[in-house]
Amino acid sequence: MTAVEAFDAVDLIRTKRDRGELSTDQIGWLVDAYTRGYVADEQMSAMTMAIFLNGMTRREIRDLTMAMIASGERMDFSGLGKPTTDKHSTGGVGDKITLPLMPLVAAFGVAVPQLSGRGLGHTGGTLDKLESIPGWRAELSNDEMFAQLRDIGGVICAAGAGLAPADKKLYALRDITGTVEAIPLIASSIMSKKIAEGTGALVLDVKFGSGAFLQDIERSRELARTMVELGEDAGVATSALLTNMSVPLGLTIGNANEVRESVEVLAGGGPADIRELTVALAREMLALAGRPDEDVEAALDDGRAMDTWRAAIRAQGGDPDADLPVAKEQHVVTADRDGVLVRQEALPFGIAAWRLGAGRARKEDPVQHAAGIDLHAKPGDAVRQGQPLFTLHADEPARFARALEVVEGAWAIGDAGDEVHDGGPLIADRIGR
Ligand code: URA
Repeated sequence: MTAVEAFDAVDLIRTKRDRGELSTDQIGWLVDAYTRGYVADEQMSAMTMAIFLNGMTRREIRDLTMAMIASGERMDFSGLGKPTTDKHSTGGVGDKITLPLMPLVAAFGVAVPQLSGRGLGHTGGTLDKLESIPGWRAELSNDEMFAQLRDIGGVICAAGAGLAPADKKLYALRDITGTVEAIPLIASSIMSKKIAEGTGALVLDVKFGSGAFLQDIERSRELARTMVELGEDAGVATSALLTNMSVPLGLTIGNANEVRESVEVLAGGGPADIRELTVALAREMLALAGRPDEDVEAALDDGRAMDTWRAAIRAQGGDPDADLPVAKEQHVVTADRDGVLVRQEALPFGIAAWRLGAGRARKEDPVQHAAGIDLHAKPGDAVRQGQPLFTLHADEPARFARALEVVEGAWAIGDAGDEVHDGGPLIADRIGR
């Protein structure tokens, strides 16, 4: 005898279509029934479109998040005997901050379980970047992750398939039904994974600007507020920084070159914007974990963060001293006049790096670790005619034309005093307690 289902999907779709509110039980049933295949993809597509158009209340978003968490395993790091803190970025161009941030925070004795993903489209994936280090391994068992957190203090590794499986199925559906950009769905998707991961504190780096997932700052602010509320409601100390993704972060976009730049930051150097954001996020993470007064910059300058990085890379089979891959071909673009670089738009540069081979179009594609772009100037910098502005790296020279095509018009040289189109300050706002 088949079990009697508690609700009818069509009734629930009609309720949301007509701007009604779904109950806690209805949402719990919907997510469970969809995960086990009882609710069909076409029904869930109609539901996600109704949510996209009509929104959800705070209570509904919380119920959706909790139902997605309940679809899988929930990790527990309480046995570590130290606080845990994590960061999530909504993704951007040249965003390698997780790499220096994890060892920097872990150097203060706060555990950092950073479960990460691979990139799709123009935003890179943290695991893709780290896999350019010879020998480094992303897949760890839960026991290996726990041991590394205990012994070294931080780990960056692949999120296991057991965390929020409902989200995986739902995200793939949203991707092909034009419903990715709904704030209740984005917020519940991100926060279900982060809450299931078991961190005690969470800092969200919510991007706005041309290279961001949501380009408009007010939409990003709404997403940040929604996620902070979800975290706090679930007992995770949560805050968010709203950060500017109008220009690429740092001077590298790719994989191996982003690792190189991260190591420069860990050695106390590196581009000013990468250091600024790394330090700001580290302060937030430590403050939420109950350590507001730490001298974060000192740990970059005196080598403590670097020591933790090297130990973490070694623990996952990587050689922190190994040469990183170098692309077979280079193409340098130079300034055509003296002046000031007034424009360098993140999105076209991200797409160009992707076309060079640094990213993937389908999730089963490999990435070319040495492919990408090195920038030699940032908006506001004075430049001289003939000076290199950026270098494209690829294994196949045939890729250069399509990369150059997409950055055409995405950078510009003006005169001293002209407006610089950089989208304003790097950190625009903070949301949280
Ligand atoms: N990242 C996620 O994990 N989920 C979304 O819905 C959007 C971005």
